[in-house]
Amino acid sequence: MTSFDTLLPRPVRVTPTGGTLVLDEPPSPVISSDSSLPAEGFRLTISPAGVEVAASDPAGFFYARQTLRQLLGPWAFRAVDLHSGPYALPCGVIEDWPRYSWRGCLLDVARHFMPKAAVLRFLDLMAVHRLNVLHFHLTDDQGWRIEVPAFPRLTTVGAWRAGSWVGRPPDGTPGHDGRPHGGYYTVDDLREIVAYAAERHITVVPEIDVPGHSQAAIAAYPWLGVTGQPLEVLTRWGINDNILAVNDLTVDFYRQVLTHVVSVFPSQVICIGGDEVPTTQWTTDPASSAYAASRGLSQVDDLRGWFLGQLVTHLESLGRRAMAWDDAGPLPPNTVIGAWLSTPAGHDLVLCPEEHVYLDHRQSDHPDEPIPVGYLRTLEDMYAYEPIESPRVLGAQAQVWTEHLDNPRRVDYAAFPRLAAFAEVVWSQKNRDYEEFESRLTRHHLPRLDALGVEYRPLTGPHPWQTRPGVPGRVRHL
Ligand code: ACM
Repeated sequence: MTSFDTLLPRPVRVTPTGGTLVLDEPPSPVISSDSSLPAEGFRLTISPAGVEVAASDPAGFFYARQTLRQLLGPWAFRAVDLHSGPYALPCGVIEDWPRYSWRGCLLDVARHFMPKAAVLRFLDLMAVHRLNVLHFHLTDDQGWRIEVPAFPRLTTVGAWRAGSWVGRPPDGTPGHDGRPHGGYYTVDDLREIVAYAAERHITVVPEIDVPGHSQAAIAAYPWLGVTGQPLEVLTRWGINDNILAVNDLTVDFYRQVLTHVVSVFPSQVICIGGDEVPTTQWTTDPASSAYAASRGLSQVDDLRGWFLGQLVTHLESLGRRAMAWDDAGPLPPNTVIGAWLSTPAGHDLVLCPEEHVYLDHRQSDHPDEPIPVGYLRTLEDMYAYEPIESPRVLGAQAQVWTEHLDNPRRVDYAAFPRLAAFAEVVWSQKNRDYEEFESRLTRHHLPRLDALGVEYRPLTGPHPWQTRPGVPGRVRHL
C-alpha cells in the first residue's frame, strides 16, 4: 500500500482518517455528482465502508481514478495487470482540483513523425500526469503530417524528406544521416487520435504553421512559395527564408486546409503558428509588394499580420478560435497567444516560455548528455518554473520539439521526468518544495514510469543507450 504523500501531482487537500481499507477485488467507487466542486476537481473518500468519488464533471471522475491508481501502487500502471489482491488503500479524504485549465504539452510530429501508436501512448502518459491539451504540431518545413484529401500532394510529397541533419560535429557543420524520413496521419488516424484523447479528457489542438515553417507545403505545391521554384522538403533545421507567397491563391488554399482541419479536430482552438517568419523574400519580390499595396498595407512585412488575420477570420466564421505564437505580431484580440518569447497584453495567453518549459533543451551539463540544443533545463529548473500571474493566463504548456528526437524513445528521454515536474507546476498550488518533490518522484513516481515502460532520463545522469558511441554525426555539445 502506498500513502497519500506519494501522490503526484501533489493534491490540494488531504485529510487522513487512519486505518486501511482492504479489498479482495480492485475498488469500484460509488460515484456522485457535486456541483460545488471546481471544474475537473474531485473528492475521493476512502473509508472502511469503501471508496466514494464526487465530482462536478467527467474529468473530475477521471482524475479521481488516476489518484486511486497511484494509491494502489506502481503495478496499477502496468499494461498487463499481473497483480492479484488483496488491495489495500489508506483511509482518508482527498480534495483536489487543478490550478490551470490549460495544462498542455506540444508534440512536434513534423520534424520527426511519430507513428499513431506512439501518439496514443503519449496521450496515455499525458493523462497519467493530468495534462489536458495536446498541441499537435502537424506541419513544418521538414514535413506535412495531416492528410488533406483536396490537396493530396501535401502528403504524397510533403510528408517525406531525403534525410535529416544529425547533431553538430566539432567543425560546426551538421552531419547528414542520408536516411529518408517521413509519414503522415490519415483522416481516420486523426479521428482515432482525437477520440482516444477525448476519452482521457485531452483536447487535441492542431497546428498548421504559416506563413513560415511551410517549406513542406511549398515542396508539394511550388506555387505556394514566393519564387515559384521547386523546393525539397527541408532536411536541415532552423529558421528558413522560403516562406509562403501571400496572394489570393494562398489565402484560398489555407482556408480550405483549415476548413478540413476543423472537420477533423473538434477543438475550439486551432493554432496557425505565425512564428519565425523572415520576410527577405517578400521584400525583394515585386508581386508581394504589389499585393501588399493592393490590400492597403504600408509595408510588405505587414503581409504576415494580414495573412494570419484572414485565417483568424476564417476560423471564426467556422465557430473556432485561432491561436498563434507571440512573435506572429499584432493579431485580433480574440486570438489565443502561445507566449514563448513575450507575453503580449490584450490576449488570452498560454505560457510556453522557451527559457523554462522547452523539453528539447539539454537536461544537464554532463558531457554525455545527448540532446544538442543549447540551453540547460534541469529537472529542478522545470519544477522552479512559476507562471506569471494574470487573469488572461489560461495555463501553460511544455514543448517537445523533435529536431533531435528521431523516435519515441528519445521523446521519452527528453520529456520525462521533467514533464512530471511541469505537471505539478500546472496542477498543484503555488507552494512547492523541490527536495520534497525529488524524493517523492524518485521513491514513488519513477516506479510508476517504470511500470509504464517510460525510458526517462535517470536523475543520476544520461542513460548509456542515449549516448552510445559510433552513431554517425552524433556529437555531445553544440
Ligand atoms: C517556437 O519555438 N518557434 C514557437
